[in-house]
Amino acid sequence: MSELTLITGGAGFIGSNYASRCISRGDKIVIFDNLSRAGSKRNLAWLEQTYGKGSFELIVGDVRDAAAIQEAARNASKILHLAAQVAVTTSVTDPRNDFEINAQGTFNTLEAARLSGNKPGFLFSSTNKVYGGMENVRVVEKETRYDYADLPEGASEEQLLDFHSPYGCSKGCGDQYVRDYARIYDLPTVVFRQSCIYGLRQFGVEDQGWVAWFVIAAITGRPISIYGDGKQVRDILFVEDLCDAYDAAFQRLPQIGGQVFNIGGGRKNTISIWMEFKPILEKLLGKKIETTSGDWRPGDQPVFISDIRKANQLLNWAPRVGAEEGISRLFTWVKENKDLF
Ligand SMILES: NC(=O)c1ccc[n+]([C@@H]2O[C@H](COP(=O)([O-])OP(=O)(O)OC[C@H]3O[C@@H](n4cnc5c(N)ncnc54)[C@H](O)[C@@H]3O)[C@@H](O)[C@H]2O)c1
Repeated sequence: MSELTLITGGAGFIGSNYASRCISRGDKIVIFDNLSRAGSKRNLAWLEQTYGKGSFELIVGDVRDAAAIQEAARNASKILHLAAQVAVTTSVTDPRNDFEINAQGTFNTLEAARLSGNKPGFLFSSTNKVYGGMENVRVVEKETRYDYADLPEGASEEQLLDFHSPYGCSKGCGDQYVRDYARIYDLPTVVFRQSCIYGLRQFGVEDQGWVAWFVIAAITGRPISIYGDGKQVRDILFVEDLCDAYDAAFQRLPQIGGQVFNIGGGRKNTISIWMEFKPILEKLLGKKIETTSGDWRPGDQPVFISDIRKANQLLNWAPRVGAEEGISRLFTWVKENKDLF
């Protein structure tokens, strides 16, 4: 069987970046996407413009449709499952839709992999939200940020699972199914519990993709609201570094089948979402940014920092793009493509 990579959600932010990398090195890919995300059609148009018509196969389909995803996965040797309802806020207002796309949709995609009989490598993009509020971990408040009192390297994969918010539950359900299919069906699966990913081609909105949203809002002059005190800390990871990690994992399957990895920028690439982000953004913009404030959002962790040592050891992977460098690249892309927003 010749190599074929199926990317569900391949028209999205992460998916189109990974698709671009695959096409540019000559991989055969199929993008399976229902094009529900604003920006997904623009990402496809960009892929076509960059690499030409016919450089990838597109199936406009929905992961809730078991037969459609089964057909799409029939000849795949690798599956990167990214298709998802991605906003915590939307999951709270419409939990059924969130469950059907994230939990059942992941189950359908996994079943499609199993039923194909090819044992394709299967990589699932889970989330750090599966660790919930981490109330058992001591947090200290500093001048511009929160921090862990006792976890210098961040949260490891040993952290207790505590699904918080419908999004946390539906992604967590998928996460556990993907892991279990390696045990029960010997399918070479890997789970990436991703932290905040940011980068070019991210059509961030207030509800999801905060790094891109702040950059887009600052450049286009839209109002910015900060929920909570702006000292929430995240480890941010530039999308190219994430794509390196996907490659590293696929290359090491099936040896790492059934493994779970925390994937983020790690301690070196932490930033508080406004207290430390704001000065960087104001410097790039060349002027002050006004904001309004609102209450903390459900499930919002005061700190999340991924301990990425397991990925470092087993995948021989580490982020290469520092936070300031990545933010500056994103800023330049948004500025040069203002008409897209
Ligand atoms: N961006 C992040 O910071 C981040 C962090 C952790 C986990 N993740 C996960 O990574 C994955 C990709 O995220 P992204 O930031 O690229 O989001 P995105 O919204 O840009 O991409 C998701 C894609 O899935 C498609 N999609 C949505 N519902 C679908 C359905 N029912 N059937 C088929 N396609 C559907 C959308 O049209 C979109 O193109 C998601 O699974 C998300 O949960 C992202």
